[in-house]
Amino acid sequence: MKNFKRLFRLLIPYKTALFWGSLFLVLTSGVNLAVPLFIKQLVDVVMVEKNLEMLNYIAGMIALMFVLQMVFSTIHNYLYDVTEKRVITDFRKIIFSHLHKMSASFFVKRRTGEIMSRMTNDVTTIEGVITDLPATALQQSIRLIGGIVIIIYMNWKLTFMILVLAPVLVLFARIYGKKLKKLSKEIQDKLATSTTILEENISGMPVVKSFVRQKLEIQRFDKAVEDSFQSAKKRVKISAFFGPVVGFIAFSTALVLLWYGGREVITGRISPGELVAFILYATIIAGPMGSFARLYTRIQEGLGASERIFEILDTQGDVRDAPDAVPMPPVAGKVEFKNLRFHYREDQEVLKGLNFTVEPGEMVALVGPSGAGKTTLVQLLHRFYDPVSGEILVDGQNIRDVQMISYWRQIGLVPQETLLFGGTIEENIRFAKEEATLAEIKEAARAANADWFITDCPDGYRTIVGEKGIRLSAGQRQRIAIARAILKNPRLLILDEATSSLDNESEKLIQEALERLMKGKTSFVIAHRLSTIHNADKILVLDKGEIVETGTHQELMDRKGLYQYLYNLKALQINREMDPMGETSL
Ligand SMILES: Nc1ncnc2c1ncn2[C@@H]1O[C@H](COP(=O)(O)OP(=O)(O)OP(=O)(O)O)[C@@H](O)[C@H]1O
Ligand SMILES: [Mg+2]
Repeated sequence: MKNFKRLFRLLIPYKTALFWGSLFLVLTSGVNLAVPLFIKQLVDVVMVEKNLEMLNYIAGMIALMFVLQMVFSTIHNYLYDVTEKRVITDFRKIIFSHLHKMSASFFVKRRTGEIMSRMTNDVTTIEGVITDLPATALQQSIRLIGGIVIIIYMNWKLTFMILVLAPVLVLFARIYGKKLKKLSKEIQDKLATSTTILEENISGMPVVKSFVRQKLEIQRFDKAVEDSFQSAKKRVKISAFFGPVVGFIAFSTALVLLWYGGREVITGRISPGELVAFILYATIIAGPMGSFARLYTRIQEGLGASERIFEILDTQGDVRDAPDAVPMPPVAGKVEFKNLRFHYREDQEVLKGLNFTVEPGEMVALVGPSGAGKTTLVQLLHRFYDPVSGEILVDGQNIRDVQMISYWRQIGLVPQETLLFGGTIEENIRFAKEEATLAEIKEAARAANADWFITDCPDGYRTIVGEKGIRLSAGQRQRIAIARAILKNPRLLILDEATSSLDNESEKLIQEALERLMKGKTSFVIAHRLSTIHNADKILVLDKGEIVETGTHQELMDRKGLYQYLYNLKALQINREMDPMGETSL
């Protein structure tokens, strides 16, 4: 119920529209309740009084009521439904912007499909209940209470009969509502699993094909959807007979009423019009009883969905600004790691007390076997994670004490694989700096050796890339990433060199572009190219979470340690032109 309160709090900004919607809803229900009274008159006028003039008059009144009902319903439908769409749109925005507050660990722990399912399926479920639920509840309560009051007034004995059957219905709804809730959650969870598989397969299609996993993947997906089908079937088994049983109880009641009421008419205790009105009220009352039962199950579904969404909304990013965080002053570029320890999981220490200092403008190459902790180290420097103990100082300032945004504005990241967003090449470079002019963008592209291939594209800088546009090669994408970083012009640079080998020409262009980019900046490079480490001011050799050697290329070669071993391995491979794509990051 707490979740429902939170959900309905979203409606507060639209309370005016909802107020008018509710007002017209009440009017509609009122008209609805009045109609049988006129029909009673009509029947009695025809059957008892046989008065033609009155018949015309009453029929006219009833027609007027139907018109009113139509107008009022249109107004409240419109107001409620527009509000519903509005609120859900707001909700989607809230969840999306919340995703951006989450830390790196959130996205590592959760699968994309699961997050997507919550953003889509669960939000859709909520869309179905957020205004519909209160509207239905209000409308049906008015009908139920109003109807009962009127018929008690008309004939309490007949009313009593209806009310005996009502609790049966309520009990029925309660028992099955619980079951349905459990099953709905189960179905949603299982659907989420299949969405995840779908997502993995779409993005990983080349891998699936290459490993000839189609059959297994199809089996995996089939199993997931079959699983959800089984739960859905269980749910259908319950919900299928739920409605009809409710209907049966309602019709039986009507029959009993007709039988008993008929006797009353024959003995002359009530008029035929009264009996007709009574039956009409009985159906008006039966409506709410049935829909309250349905309402109950929908509340359960809505609760399940909102629980899952609020769970995300309540998850705070692990990495947050301290309350007294100050903006990061312009960075000169001195970086110190002090006794830095880090682990993702308690049982596996990844960085075991790192100590080193990097002077402004130095280029540091990170080298070491796979799993040594190189990526982890740069992620900590970027403050995607916070250290378990120890600290990282930039210009003597602990990066945990400054506002993340102000720090991130001064740090550049060129990842191994460049992700381009759907849009033009220009927009993709502008990603780095919203207010950049076209001239600045072109200059950055030139410095990144990307200008000429961009101008060769069909629409130049306006060429659409990504899903709906042209495909760029890995080397071209990298140069766009470099252009982005050049445009951002950060003081600190993190570079994860691509392991995929490019042709010599491409390689040379990228190398040049990188040299221009790194000039005068403090840069950390996870180095895979021999040329990079030759140029490095300092090489940190990591092994199993520790820095085992530090120095320049020559110093480290002379030590004849791990570095020399890795270097020879790599050099040998290159001589044989057999680059195993980064088994060893050198
Ligand atoms: N998100 C994570 N959750 C748990 N453990 C992780 C996570 N990321 C990395 N690790 C573990 O931390 C250790 C260091 O990983 P890291 O990615 O930093 O190595 P690396 O030096 O970059 O290796 P590579 O050269 O293969 O990229 C590994 O043992 C890895 O299994
Ligand atoms: Mg790595």
